[in-house]
Amino acid sequence: MAVIRIEDFFYAYPPLLPEGQPIEVLHGVNLSVERGEFLAIMGPTGVGKTTLCLSMNGLVPQATGGVARGHVVVLGHDTRTTPVAELATRVGIVYQDPESQLFCPTVEEEVAFGPENLGLDPAEIAERVSWALQVVGMEAYRQRSPSHLSGGQKQRLAIAASLAMLPKVLILDEPTAGLDPVGQAEVFGVIERLCRERRMTIVMVSQDAERIARFADRLAIMWQGRIVRVDAPPRIFTDQAFLEEVGLAAPQVSELAVALNRRWGTGYRFTLLEEAEEALRRDLRGGQISS
Ligand SMILES: Nc1ncnc2c1ncn2[C@@H]1O[C@H](COP(=O)(O)OP(=O)(O)OP(=O)(O)O)[C@@H](O)[C@H]1O
Ligand SMILES: [Mg+2]
Repeated sequence: MAVIRIEDFFYAYPPLLPEGQPIEVLHGVNLSVERGEFLAIMGPTGVGKTTLCLSMNGLVPQATGGVARGHVVVLGHDTRTTPVAELATRVGIVYQDPESQLFCPTVEEEVAFGPENLGLDPAEIAERVSWALQVVGMEAYRQRSPSHLSGGQKQRLAIAASLAMLPKVLILDEPTAGLDPVGQAEVFGVIERLCRERRMTIVMVSQDAERIARFADRLAIMWQGRIVRVDAPPRIFTDQAFLEEVGLAAPQVSELAVALNRRWGTGYRFTLLEEAEEALRRDLRGGQISS
């Protein structure tokens, strides 16, 4: 059974002015995510990626209003009718801007906040806090103020705060945008661990083609309010014509393959650095290409 099932989902934000038109954003989205899968979403700016994420935890349309048709069903719950607070125990969400998600004086209070709101007993809360901080490698920062953390640490804390609710599904909306390379690596390290060791179902919007090629099981491409293709990342990243059509950049090694093919008439299709290295070493040694 799919953990997330989105069927012909249409959504328009309410008009900005009383006499205005609704702002149509999602035009019939279909998507299915399996248990334990890491699905990445890419697409140009403004296509509705964030809106789609918010439809999975119910904020769209429950908090935003507007018009919705079709279905977004997460773990059997229709997110249009299941209360947002109830969905929050099943679906964790991490936003792009870590500042907007952190508001407690200390790291441990931040992580305890959600479980406390569930009215759990203190021993259970303490256990969840320790576990979540350990998963993201932040135990040493328990007493710190979140405002004194680096960008990468803030996002790891936001992930821990979500994990403390023991969600079955974690949604991340460009969690590494705006982070420095160290922060990006830290956050992807945590996400990779959640996928590989815990088989958590993860949906992540990201523009980091290199890391999506490396970690994601499938990649969904959003274009003009629809998911226009879902495929294994290497298949998408080596389809030059499709990438140009939807205005997406492939990993740099995939672009290198295209340039080499043009120059040498080869048929390279790399998405990972080590694939490029291996193929070029082999072909240089074998004399198929010359340096
Ligand atoms: N609360 C809102 N009210 C009205 N329109 C909105 C609202 N939020 C977003 N939109 C509009 O919906 C469209 C899709 O926005 P959304 O943020 O979902 O796109 P996105 O793909 O996440 O973009 P980005 O790559 O910039 O993050 C945009 O045209 C945006 O202006
Ligand atoms: Mg967005």
